[in-house]
Amino acid sequence: MVPTLHLVDHALLSHRLAELRDVATPSPRFRRLLAEIGALLTMEATRGLPVATRTVTTPLTPMQHAVLAAPEPVLVAVLRAGLGLMEGAMQVMPEAPVGHVGLVRDEHTLQPSQYMLRMPPEVTTRGAILFDPMLATGGSAAAAIARVKEAGAPAVRFVCVVAAPEGVARLAAAHPDVPIYTAALDEKLDHRGFIVPGLGDAGDRCFGTEG
Ligand code: PRP
Repeated sequence: MVPTLHLVDHALLSHRLAELRDVATPSPRFRRLLAEIGALLTMEATRGLPVATRTVTTPLTPMQHAVLAAPEPVLVAVLRAGLGLMEGAMQVMPEAPVGHVGLVRDEHTLQPSQYMLRMPPEVTTRGAILFDPMLATGGSAAAAIARVKEAGAPAVRFVCVVAAPEGVARLAAAHPDVPIYTAALDEKLDHRGFIVPGLGDAGDRCFGTEG
């Protein structure tokens, strides 16, 4: 077992993932499900954020209450499919700054190439949570995390929906300091680098484009 891997086991998550995987699920529903899954995974990925104690006065009495000790981390979408997943994270962390890393994987070599990078300055103090539904070979995630670290992030978390064992191993080797949160650890990659059983091409299913 990879020590950085967190397999999130939750009935609500599993129920949505079943529908997300279904080939008959249309794009609008796929996007909605991805956002809901993003919110649920974000709850788990942020469970350990440091808290401090503050005095809160209720209508009846003052009390000591746990609150976040530091501002929320930067949310980073790995384009394109990460946009759909991050939508849910933005619902539960509406104050968090947002960054984008644009990567596309060559369908033959499976190597990712970068076409954009936008990172808010807060990343240097707050760290980042990256979102990409698919962790296949791990090339895209490893490259995206490298970009965010180069931008100065002191701590990084990675959130995906479906991971292949190959991708988990590669990411853990490249970034052993980065926890990986996933709703599912699937069986394998096929000869095209697709996760099996997986859910197909998340970007295309999200936005209704062809592969
Ligand atoms: C897919 C997916 C990941 C990447 C995973 O994106 O969303 O970013 O491939 O593959 P890897 O782990 O082998 O690198 P894709 O390149 O198809 O771009 P898209 O999101 O724009 O469709």
